[in-house]
Amino acid sequence: MKAAVVETFDAPPRYGEFAEPRVEGEHEMLVDVLAAGLHHRVRSQASGSHYTSSGVLPLIPGVDGVGRSPDGELRYFVLPHTAFGSMADKTVIDLRRSVPLAADVDPAAIAAAANPVMSSWIALRHRVDFTPGMTVMVFGATGSSGRLATQVARRLGAGRVVAVGRDARKLAALDVDATIDLSAASADHRLATEGAEADVVLDYLWGPVTARALRAIVPARTDDQRQLTWIEIGSMAGAESAIPSAALRATRLSLVGSGQGSVAPGDIVADLGDIASEIASGAYHLDVRKVPLSQVESAWEATDDARVVLIP
Ligand SMILES: NC(=O)c1ccc[n+]([C@@H]2O[C@H](COP(=O)([O-])OP(=O)(O)OC[C@H]3O[C@@H](n4cnc5c(N)ncnc54)[C@H](OP(=O)(O)O)[C@@H]3O)[C@@H](O)[C@H]2O)c1
Repeated sequence: MKAAVVETFDAPPRYGEFAEPRVEGEHEMLVDVLAAGLHHRVRSQASGSHYTSSGVLPLIPGVDGVGRSPDGELRYFVLPHTAFGSMADKTVIDLRRSVPLAADVDPAAIAAAANPVMSSWIALRHRVDFTPGMTVMVFGATGSSGRLATQVARRLGAGRVVAVGRDARKLAALDVDATIDLSAASADHRLATEGAEADVVLDYLWGPVTARALRAIVPARTDDQRQLTWIEIGSMAGAESAIPSAALRATRLSLVGSGQGSVAPGDIVADLGDIASEIASGAYHLDVRKVPLSQVESAWEATDDARVVLIP
């Protein structure tokens, strides 16, 4: 079969031949892949830099996708740790990590949005005691996952949504209650004002941005006993952050993460059906760019804002 193949961690995958994976377990099924999203998670899998990387090569990248089963049913699936990812003509899915889709869904729309939607959905549902009316700040709100996080927070009942980013033009296009431009001179003041009564931060940035924001927000809290749950989801601004120790003592701050490992697989799987049907209903907006799998090498270099979906 044809596949995107990673032979070395320091170059993009190449389009080539790969042996078809075999069904081994009783819950497994070989499916024809219809669409696979090129997410950050997949880029780090292909560069060997993800924290789950085993270093084994060659591998086919791709952590999720939409496939067609032998009886014609469409399924959205999430793959376990495997060298046989979704960027191939065929892949083996575990039926317990997949959900059926309606026959008329757009496979590319589901493959593009499921992973970024899941990032905030799972965080709000499983990493914080989230209740309707809460104020949610999204750090990195101009990216695919961040933009969707502003929409997910609203749909799950947030009372106020604040978008934080560094691009004023992209921030202005978001349907949120307030925005904070990190590159503006007023950024620290705005972080303090909006953070004073925030309940949840969905953080896709980390690095110096998070340390700076905590220095601005913690002294500004109107009630030190009001819970602030800071959920680390991504690290676009840096893998490490110099968090001031006093931030954790001076106010009721919980610093948690959300991702593979910190959320039980069963909790993720239990929400897949709802996430897929929300996306299929058109509830979320995300720009999608479909690229034939044969062009995987050039797709890897894409820098536009649309989420790339590879089509075998
Ligand atoms: N844990 C999970 O479950 C999970 C799931 C999905 C994604 N993630 C992670 O979430 C992160 C974002 O993913 P994505 O899909 O949204 O990526 P994306 O679409 O490429 O967006 C990344 C965004 O980060 C912004 N950014 C980069 N460096 C920045 C900085 N120094 N200061 C402010 N903004 C900065 C960019 O801002 P500009 O618009 O200004 O360029 C861009 O909008 C990644 O680290 C990804 O691995 C985690």
